[in-house]
This record gives sequence, C-alpha cells and structure tokens, in this order.
Amino acid sequence: MIRPILRYGDSALHMRARTVEKFDDELRTLLRDMAETMYAAPGIGLAAPQIGVPLRIFVIDVTLGKQTGELHELINPAFVACEGMQIEEEGCLSIPGFNATVVRPTRAIVNGMDREGNPTTIEGTGLLARALQHEMDHLDGALFVDRLRGIKREVIVRKVQKLRRSGKW
Ligand code: NI
Repeated sequence: MIRPILRYGDSALHMRARTVEKFDDELRTLLRDMAETMYAAPGIGLAAPQIGVPLRIFVIDVTLGKQTGELHELINPAFVACEGMQIEEEGCLSIPGFNATVVRPTRAIVNGMDREGNPTTIEGTGLLARALQHEMDHLDGALFVDRLRGIKREVIVRKVQKLRRSGKW
C-alpha cells in the first residue's frame, strides 16, 4: 500500500525515531509499504518517519527499482564508518521541489538488522553513501536543509513556510 509522505514542517519528521523491538508481520507489512511508496514517488530512499511511523527503519534503492536485488532495508542502523567528502545536489521526498548541494561522505558503512532481526551491514560509495547518511539523518529528525548553513537554508525554509501559509504544501 502506498502511504502518504509527510512534508517538511510536520512534527513527525523532526523528532528522533524509536528502536524497533518486534520483528513481526506488522514490520514486514511496513517494509513492503515503504518500498512501494518509495518506488511510486519515485525516490531512492525513504525513512519510516516520512510516512509518520516513528521507528528506526529505512529503505534505499539507488537504481529506483530498475535493477533487481538493489533494494536495501535496514532496521536500527548505526554508522560503523564514514569517510571522505562529496558535494552534490540533493533532494528529499519530504521537501518536493527543492534541491541544494549538501556535503556528504564518499563512503559509508552502516550496521543494522534485516527484517528477521539478523545483523546485516550495508557498505556504500558515491550515491549510496549519500543516501545512507540522508536516511540516517531522517531517523534523528534531521532533513537535508538542516545540514545547510545561513542563506541557503533560510531561502528554502522561507519558501516552504510561504507555501504552507497559502495551503500549497
Ligand atoms: Ni529524505
């Protein structure tokens, strides 16, 4: 089931998500819905708080579903390593229509659990490393604009506030 994606300013996006404790059918349904919602958007990543579920879960597929076996699901993730620096244009399904250049690592290794509760690791470079950090940020209530400084951040926040006031957000 495709679920509505919350937008910047919704309080559910701006709080720390909780640890997953139950690896049950409800979790599997949630993971399926998250992937379906991400692919439908379309996007390369989605974190559970973006659909209003305050749990530490994200899905990523940098191929947008064009290649099989590229869907990553991670539960209760933690960084093992972050290296290097890349500066690329980035967006977010919760801030549609806005992009900015964001500093991210060039390589990231993240530990977590799979849908059965077994330990698993995702190691990514380039776009995958960027997506990993972007989705990790969501679990701590941070969006890409929170990594921007000064005028770059203000311009986006002000435009979003204007859209919100006029009911177009
Ligand atoms: Ni995002």
